[in-house]
Amino acid sequence: MLIFILIVIFLFVRYAAAENFFVLTVRREKLGSGIKIAHVSDLHKRRFGRENVRLCEKIRAESPDLIFVTGDIVSRTETDFTTAGATLRQLCKIAPVYMVFGNHEQSIPEEILPAFMEMLAGTDAILLRNSSADINVRGRQLRIYGLEQKYSTYKNGSSYRHLDGFTLAEMNALIGIRPDGEVLLLAHNPLFADVYSQWGADCVFSGHVHGGAVRLFGVGLFSPERTLFPKYTKGVYTLGKTRLLLSAGLGKLRLFDPAEVVVYFL
Ligand SMILES: [Fe+2]
Repeated sequence: MLIFILIVIFLFVRYAAAENFFVLTVRREKLGSGIKIAHVSDLHKRRFGRENVRLCEKIRAESPDLIFVTGDIVSRTETDFTTAGATLRQLCKIAPVYMVFGNHEQSIPEEILPAFMEMLAGTDAILLRNSSADINVRGRQLRIYGLEQKYSTYKNGSSYRHLDGFTLAEMNALIGIRPDGEVLLLAHNPLFADVYSQWGADCVFSGHVHGGAVRLFGVGLFSPERTLFPKYTKGVYTLGKTRLLLSAGLGKLRLFDPAEVVVYFL
């Protein structure tokens, strides 16, 4: 019996180590047939080979038309952005890269932020901070918005209690009312998906929840706000006419929740 228990523990530790150090999956979601978008989120301090070359190779092999990076490409405690810069430069050679800040970029210490912005300026990535870009991809006209809510929607001092909410009026104040045409929204936090839907986004690309960190039987257990069973963890959700496209991300500790790049056919 003891040997059996030891074998189970050994296999579990080996699996967890592999998942946290080596495993990188590609999830493909066929929602249409016009364009291909690769979605990268929540890399944090995780590395897939030197300068994330394995990650970039995986994405290159998919030949996406666009790459969206939906925040937390670094962790707030990082001070050296060499790898983030090298990763973004590789991605920019594959396809145009649009990105938003996550809660970690929003909370980079004031004295470190210039180094992060300098790193970004050394890449061709287009950072959208409550702003938008009009693009034409394969004859399809798109407007891409990047949303950045106030930090108090993520954390209240050092606490995760009594966080600020987010309303349609606040969203309109940040990025204006939805224009005509096809609109894609990059928004790190999926928690306010109902507001993004009221605003009228066609598709919302989010991360932040890391799939729930631990997944059992397809259910994510933990939220970044330190609650159990968050509403949105990973996958494609439909809210009215809006699709929420939520990546489980790449970094941080995880269990039965492999790191993923998502490729959408839209
Ligand atoms: Fe994150």
